[in-house]
Amino acid sequence: MNLDSIEELNQADPGGMLRVLWNLPEQCEEAWRIGTEAVFELPTGFDQVVVTGLGGSAIGGDLLRVYATSEAAVPVLVNRDYRLPAFVGPRTLVFAVSYSGNTEETLSAYDDARARGASMMAVTTGGQLAERARRDGVPLVIIPGGISPRAASGYLFLPTLAVMQRVGLLGDAGPSVAETVNLLKEMREELGPQSPENRNLAKQLARRFFQRIPVIYGSSGTTETVAMRWKGQINENSKAMAYFNVFPELNHNEIVGTEKPAAKLKDLELIFLSDPADHPRVKARLEITRGLIGERVGAITEVAARGGSKLARAYSLIYVGDYASVYLALMYGIDPTPVKLIDALKKRLSDFQ
Ligand code: PA5
Repeated sequence: MNLDSIEELNQADPGGMLRVLWNLPEQCEEAWRIGTEAVFELPTGFDQVVVTGLGGSAIGGDLLRVYATSEAAVPVLVNRDYRLPAFVGPRTLVFAVSYSGNTEETLSAYDDARARGASMMAVTTGGQLAERARRDGVPLVIIPGGISPRAASGYLFLPTLAVMQRVGLLGDAGPSVAETVNLLKEMREELGPQSPENRNLAKQLARRFFQRIPVIYGSSGTTETVAMRWKGQINENSKAMAYFNVFPELNHNEIVGTEKPAAKLKDLELIFLSDPADHPRVKARLEITRGLIGERVGAITEVAARGGSKLARAYSLIYVGDYASVYLALMYGIDPTPVKLIDALKKRLSDFQ
């Protein structure tokens, strides 16, 4: 496919995922405003925060978790299950996040949090989650609907960041959000459809991933969530298999698995995500790992974060991965927007008593 033909790209993208991606900076601006202006009453003095959600609605929880790890005095945990961990109680703040508002695991975890007397907030476009929150008097943040959950990362994540700030668990993230918005506006000029492949990193990555299996390596505490995000976006947008792992853990197991099956390993396209805040020993690990396994796999490409703040750096990498996954979809002749297997699974589950 000619990734530089706007006409071909638009034809292959009937759901308009490229357009939604282009608007990510504006989405982030609006999402931050929604979070900072939301009217709610919550106590203070939490011992921990739990974000409960799945898929595209959970990744914002991981962004919050990694952000808070170096900024907040209390831990943030992400729950992708029907039940919450045993520690959840009256001194826990639980964010129940579901774009549709109808994801059964999230609704079940919502009920669990209520039963344990946790302080709660729901973030959703509507659905049963909004209904339950209204019924129960739980603070509710309504975000705009009409796009795919995974394309709504700003709406799903930034209101939780704003609320964390407002209940005193985090310092002012406003300047980081402003920097992120400006950086994404700059980056879309480089990554968007009108930017030619010979200077468009996302198109080049899609070309590398085509007919290969992307394996994304991030690092604990910095790019780990981004690595998971790239994998998820390739799965859901491109309908293609992809994997992720994190340094330093992968140096203690996965690295050993690069011997067999030797011929198949050549089909792996490895990405090393890097960030200036990576631990110095992790930086060394990236280099050493490249030297040790570089000949065994298809190729290794390093993609470095841009920007100053932690938030901007994370989103700079997310934007590259989001665009690459959409271009890869279009190269495969796949519409990035529908996720028919997820829909079919949810339907079958709802019929399954
Ligand atoms: O991106 C997607 O469509 C999925 O990963 C959904 O986010 C996931 O199935 C959960 O649905 P929801 O976000 O509506 O809670």
